[in-house]
Amino acid sequence: MESPYKSDILKGKVALLTGGGSGIGFEISKQFGLHGASIAIMGRRQQVIDSAVSDLHSLGIQADGFAGDVRKQEDAKRVVESTFKRFGKIDILVNAAAGNFLVSADDLSPNGFKTVMDIDSVGTFTMCRESLEYIKKGGKGKSSSDGGGIILNISVTMHYTAYWYQIHVSAAKAAVDAITRNLALEWGTEYDIRVNGIAPGPIGDTPGMSKLLPKEIRDSQYIESNKIGEKWDIAMAAIYLVSDAGKYVNGSTLVVDGGHWFDKPRYLPKDAVKQLSRVVEKRSRQEPSGLAPPKSKL
Ligand code: COA
Repeated sequence: MESPYKSDILKGKVALLTGGGSGIGFEISKQFGLHGASIAIMGRRQQVIDSAVSDLHSLGIQADGFAGDVRKQEDAKRVVESTFKRFGKIDILVNAAAGNFLVSADDLSPNGFKTVMDIDSVGTFTMCRESLEYIKKGGKGKSSSDGGGIILNISVTMHYTAYWYQIHVSAAKAAVDAITRNLALEWGTEYDIRVNGIAPGPIGDTPGMSKLLPKEIRDSQYIESNKIGEKWDIAMAAIYLVSDAGKYVNGSTLVVDGGHWFDKPRYLPKDAVKQLSRVVEKRSRQEPSGLAPPKSKL
């Protein structure tokens, strides 16, 4: 689909993306690149990074890849430094690296829980912390006219209520949302850095989707097909948040899910509501005490 943004909206910006070699992370890398940014991709698997970088090059995008695991502080530090050496500055950090698997709470070991916390929550904080000296206003490589940079954290909606077989991810992303808000407060005030998030719904053709909705259950009507989004939807929201279009947005996690997270089964047909609402209303006028709590509780 064609982008609604001007193709130079991110011209001159340098973006570092964890998990930028596949899925949603790669689509954001690609769209940022097509809108003028230079791209550094961080990921664990060298061959995934190499193939992503070569795809970006074939689209005429300036890009490089650096292997590293966000769970290792030394990797985070090295990749941030390498990005700076390669491109001369860092304007945007996108934390898209995540870990996930389906598991019931009683089958999840504490180490399994910790593994996802380490990737999603601690990894996000580590990358933010290691990038601070570069992305803050007046940071390394920044000219005096440059404002502060931008951080974008990829989250989920699962922890807004609760989600089957996702206790580890729900906990980890709740922490990510807290990181987003707290850094927006502290670093927004002190360093002119905007920190926002995106909470995607089910997005087709991603590693997350194939883990949570494996093909064995994909046809089960669990999710209406019109509620499955595209990676493009997330990338467009990302451009909004990191460009000047979103300059007044700080500390927000934007839900981009077609309304999926508040999906609830309809418990009453619409026609029945029409009938019932009048009946109930009439009854409440005639017997107001019938709706009030017992007098003893007042
Ligand atoms: N069910 C239950 N526990 C599981 C599991 C599963 N499907 N997969 C992993 N675990 C547990 C392991 O048993 C281990 O715990 P233990 O030591 O108590 O046995 C712990 O998680 C770590 O597993 P390990 O395979 O050593 O971790 P890893 O670092 O190699 O891989 C994962 C990390 C598990 C998160 C892996 O899924 C991954 O690399 N994910 C990245 C890609 C991804 O998930 N993308 C989707 C993003 S939405």
